[in-house]
Amino acid sequence: MFLSTADIGATDMDIKNVLIFGAGLMGKGIALVFSSCEDFNITLYDIREVDIHTPIRDNMEQLRQYGVLNEDEIERRLSRIRFTADENDPAIRNADIVIECVFEDMKLKRDTFALLESKCRDDAIFCTNTSVMSPTEISADLRRKERFVGTHFWNPAHLIPLVEVVKTEHTSAEVADTVMEILARVGKKPVLCRKDVPGFIANRMQHALWREAISIVENGIADARTVDDAVKYSFGLRLPQLAPLENADMVGLDLTLNIHKYILQHLEDSHKPSLLLVEAVSRGELGFKTGKGLQDWTKEQAEKSRKELNDYLIRMLYGNNQA
Ligand SMILES: NC(=O)c1ccc[n+]([C@@H]2O[C@H](COP(=O)([O-])OP(=O)(O)OC[C@H]3O[C@@H](n4cnc5c(N)ncnc54)[C@H](O)[C@@H]3O)[C@@H](O)[C@H]2O)c1
Repeated sequence: MFLSTADIGATDMDIKNVLIFGAGLMGKGIALVFSSCEDFNITLYDIREVDIHTPIRDNMEQLRQYGVLNEDEIERRLSRIRFTADENDPAIRNADIVIECVFEDMKLKRDTFALLESKCRDDAIFCTNTSVMSPTEISADLRRKERFVGTHFWNPAHLIPLVEVVKTEHTSAEVADTVMEILARVGKKPVLCRKDVPGFIANRMQHALWREAISIVENGIADARTVDDAVKYSFGLRLPQLAPLENADMVGLDLTLNIHKYILQHLEDSHKPSLLLVEAVSRGELGFKTGKGLQDWTKEQAEKSRKELNDYLIRMLYGNNQA
């Protein structure tokens, strides 16, 4: 949908058997993504028994309500995904590519890949879906570091197109290319992050914005709802069409330079989390889950916000107003 395989260049690695290791929120979402392509046999492994089919079906049901999928496609896609909690399942030995989605814990991830290296074929590709941890550190003890790469999917994984493919200094170009090609084949928009840096590409920008947004509230310039409105009704609206660097070229680098000469010195540049955030958390104000965060939230408002996000994403991605 977003990038054709021709844009990336086909590779000769034959990838058929996909093993998703960890069947939580992201693992199930990624399984749904791969099920779009009949080329793949997908196995989800978890250390505990997990009902994967109900939540995956629920997400596809929402897509059906918008006319994106029909009943037959839902059944076909579900039939491509199986679950196992057996560490000795042949799907582990036969995996061509493994996408690790266990908890965000360095030791667990390193232990997981040590186990995978002992069970998988030597030519299997290993991917980690870590949000913030260093793929280099996760793969430090592996024998085949050149076959290891970060694949940072975004939640909800079945809807957000971006996947950051993060190379470590050991990742081979062939492995990075193959992973980019496969992700494009299942409808994702893979982007290559050439250096393993904290936050990769998109979270560095996202959290620079969040730091400034929180600072505006902390300094009494505007309240949280106003800050969010200022984003939603201005540059947020055009961002999917006009991202920052194209925007800078559009307005002119001379104007951008003048603006930066004036404004950068006034922007938040703290290297620590804001006091506002630290104190809210220490008071137990955690956001949706406690009913109070930077704003107040009833259960209904929190539920509505979550549901409307998926509805919005589906309409934006598939351009369909049914449901
Ligand atoms: N949730 C998000 O928004 C998001 C976004 C991008 C990336 N990620 C990353 O994806 C990874 C998974 O996150 P999630 O939100 O799906 O977590 P989750 O808690 O929903 O699922 C983690 C799963 O890992 C399983 N697990 C734990 N130990 C295991 C083991 N030893 N072997 C096999 N399975 C094991 C758990 O049983 C659980 O089902 C994390 O690294 C996270 O940082 C999360």
